[in-house]
Amino acid sequence: MSREFRLTAPAIRVAPSVLSADFARLAEQIAAVETAGATMLHLDVMDGHFVPNISFGVPVIKSLRKYTKCFLDAHLMIAEPKRYAEAFVNAGCDHITFHIEVIQEPRPVIEHIRSLGVSVGVSLNPSTPVSAITNFLDHVDLVLVMSVWPGFGGQSFIPDVLNKVKELHTRLGPHQRLQIDGGIDDKTIGLAAAAGADTFVAGTAVFGAPDPPQAMQRLHQLAIQAHKRSPENG
Ligand code: DX5
Ligand code: ZN
Repeated sequence: MSREFRLTAPAIRVAPSVLSADFARLAEQIAAVETAGATMLHLDVMDGHFVPNISFGVPVIKSLRKYTKCFLDAHLMIAEPKRYAEAFVNAGCDHITFHIEVIQEPRPVIEHIRSLGVSVGVSLNPSTPVSAITNFLDHVDLVLVMSVWPGFGGQSFIPDVLNKVKELHTRLGPHQRLQIDGGIDDKTIGLAAAAGADTFVAGTAVFGAPDPPQAMQRLHQLAIQAHKRSPENG
């Protein structure tokens, strides 16, 4: 299936996290959210080393790619993102986010991922400060602020990370995305949007809801409303 969407548009979006879907009905569940307007799917890849859990990898993504035109956003919670990035791009990912906590020299990793023809993101665990990424911030397309400890869906949002979202919002350019991931639901999405996040990962709040398409649309509306209310948007 051909791909239709880019990282930069639409400007505000909810990316359903496949981690919370029913893996036996993946194609069906993805089709439902895509028909309802999803343009990005978030793919949580876990290796049991960087995080204490194992999720899914290349073969699942390769199969999924055949059933969706959505922008495939890979969140690599793995110890060696540079080693595996090419396999994920070959499987059909449109974007690769790596964690700064596992990387000593980010520039070669960024250049490598970019050379594969996809956009690049860097992610910060809840305790990792913005200062860990400031000297190469201009070189990434997306910053992912984790609002839970990576490894599992269904955890509670950590409000302290909003300070990092606010700081990053002032530092990032209009071509760069500010993504938040973990515990995003009807109560927290507005806080994240008002702080400046523009891309909202939601797993449980979408696929754990009785009506996932409706839940996703409601989250999207709440994010848009909170953005409009944020001070800098008048
Ligand atoms: C956690 C993952 C998240 C997860 C979010 O390690 O990075 O993307 O799917 O799940 P919820 O929305 O349930 O917190
Ligand atoms: Zn994620």
